[in-house]
Amino acid sequence: MSGTTEHRLSRRQFLHGAMALAGGIATFGPQEVLASDRSDSAHWAFLSDTHISRNSRNRYRGFYPYQNLQEITGQLNSSLPDGVIITGDLARLRGRSGDYQNLKKLLTPVAQKRPIHLATGNHDNRDNFLNTFQNTGSHEWRVGGKRIVTVKTSSVNLILLDSLLFVDLPWGRLGQAQRKWLKTYLEVCDETPTILCLHHPVKGFGSLLDGDSLLKVIKPMPKIKAVVHGHSHEFAFRQIDGIHMISLPATGYNQLSREPVGWVDAHLTDTEGVFTLNAVAGNTRQHGHTERLRWRT
Ligand SMILES: [Fe+2]
Repeated sequence: MSGTTEHRLSRRQFLHGAMALAGGIATFGPQEVLASDRSDSAHWAFLSDTHISRNSRNRYRGFYPYQNLQEITGQLNSSLPDGVIITGDLARLRGRSGDYQNLKKLLTPVAQKRPIHLATGNHDNRDNFLNTFQNTGSHEWRVGGKRIVTVKTSSVNLILLDSLLFVDLPWGRLGQAQRKWLKTYLEVCDETPTILCLHHPVKGFGSLLDGDSLLKVIKPMPKIKAVVHGHSHEFAFRQIDGIHMISLPATGYNQLSREPVGWVDAHLTDTEGVFTLNAVAGNTRQHGHTERLRWRT
């Protein structure tokens, strides 16, 4: 879209145009709003850094990512949330097609019953990912070569951003086009509490190259309550100017022995989120630990 053309479009038209360019590849699993999702509390599972290899026996740092995810999907299946988010580093290292085929096989039993929304990280290959997780739906946006997914629940909105910059290099960046899209989207959408989900942290070690620019967009938007991210392979909670920064543990392996390997169960309302760790490996001492976070107003 040229600057001149864009200038002529209203904000709503701008977003409509972005949607019209959508690649038709949205999510994995059912799209409909679930009965339990119509209550005032949404129940979602947050996973990250699955690092699934085409070799299901792949082992790293003493962990078996395939077997870990197999155990976790079993847990999800026995007590189904409304949906599942996975914040990137889906594949082991370089995002090979076989990695995603294995991931899809592991997720299918849950995806047959609940939507699973996937973001890409620095160990993913977007093209290979999209070739495997091809679907049709209305929740995906393609902006500046990136892929954004928007999810509405009764209590909060979830926006999955795309911070993949180079395959198998650590840096992450949203880019100007995606940041501009986000700003416009937030300006025209309603005031429903909103949580951003992406691979890289906004600040600190290994953070987005354009984390400060993202903060300039979201700090003045009170509807942004939290950012959920992976990449760090740690279970941690921080705040930046009242915005909660929630770091998910990896399901594949930890980087530091003190960290758990597992996933986070979340109950989200329009005033708070309750986040509980489910540790399956690594340091499991915090298994069952719950954080109750009040949203900024
Ligand atoms: Fe990772």
